[in-house]
Amino acid sequence: MNPTSSVLDTASAHLNRSSPKEAAAVLEGLSAKQKYLPSWLFYDTAGSRLFEEITRLPEYYLTAREHSIFSEHAKEMIASAAGLEKQMLSVVELGAGSASKTLVLLHALVASQGHAIFMPVDVSETALQWASKNVHDALPTIEVLPICSDITHEKPLKLPQEGRRLALYIGSSIGNFDPEEAVALLQWLRSQLQPADALLLGTDMVKDTTTLLAAYNDKAGITAAFNKNILTRLNRELGADFMLDEFNHRAIWNAAASRMEMHLDSKQNQTVRIPALDRSFQFKRGESIHTENSYKFTPEDIGEILLKSGFSLEKSWYDADRWFGVHLARVVDSVSMIDGNAEEAA
Ligand code: AVJ
Repeated sequence: MNPTSSVLDTASAHLNRSSPKEAAAVLEGLSAKQKYLPSWLFYDTAGSRLFEEITRLPEYYLTAREHSIFSEHAKEMIASAAGLEKQMLSVVELGAGSASKTLVLLHALVASQGHAIFMPVDVSETALQWASKNVHDALPTIEVLPICSDITHEKPLKLPQEGRRLALYIGSSIGNFDPEEAVALLQWLRSQLQPADALLLGTDMVKDTTTLLAAYNDKAGITAAFNKNILTRLNRELGADFMLDEFNHRAIWNAAASRMEMHLDSKQNQTVRIPALDRSFQFKRGESIHTENSYKFTPEDIGEILLKSGFSLEKSWYDADRWFGVHLARVVDSVSMIDGNAEEAA
């Protein structure tokens, strides 16, 4: 060990589990004119628990609505994905989650074809273990093949070659990405699939502002705790000295961009030191850290995003108020695509 590295090792010895990726993301985000932090930072162990709690809140309608859409239409979704040829389906899910909505769909799949391969893809080993156990316990005829991978890194997925593949991207997770990033992600997914493969995409829809604001400003304060947990994480993993009481949770509807935004507003002028970055950051009173975008879609948006990504929208299912949608899309044959962009296709 040379003297320089030993100094650095000593300086960061008290820091827990920080990754170079995390440090780089925090440095970039807090150095920007509009400070921001990437929303993947929410999902440490405490954050994942808080999100699970959010999904059970009365104001957070997304999870319950999507669950009821799956409960009501799973059989039809599976039949549509398998097509008239009644192809055997393998399911690949982006983001493993708690798998409770996925289970509804997998039940319908087992009812129709008896057994199947299920591949959950997630960055978190823990999430994958939970998803695998839940599925295996409920449906032993399903062969679970977990893939630990970050879908934004566009690494190839080794998908089953037999039959047809059904990709799942649910929970409106796509809403965390800017429109261009969302299309890039779905184009990559398209590149991993074959013609006639299917995608079920779950999206939160544009609706009245009151309902949206309530979903991200719950009375119990769980969303505020979820938002502030990002600072707890930076304190623990980068040695930062954020004082949680000196920041306010704020969620707003940005109509021009069609998205909910979450911010952490500094209550006063303050300086926060982050030893792992060897830097301090100034916050003006009222200045915000932008922590999340959660895009809301119209049915037209969905058709357009899918088409740009090499899919064609086949059918959408909604709850009675059209607050949430689950969309079945089909991989467009690459022969009819120009430069990977299906917009020009006949
Ligand atoms: C998991 C990204 C779909 O955007 O609604 C919940 C995360 N943020 N409450 C969402 C979240 C605030 C959630 N997604």
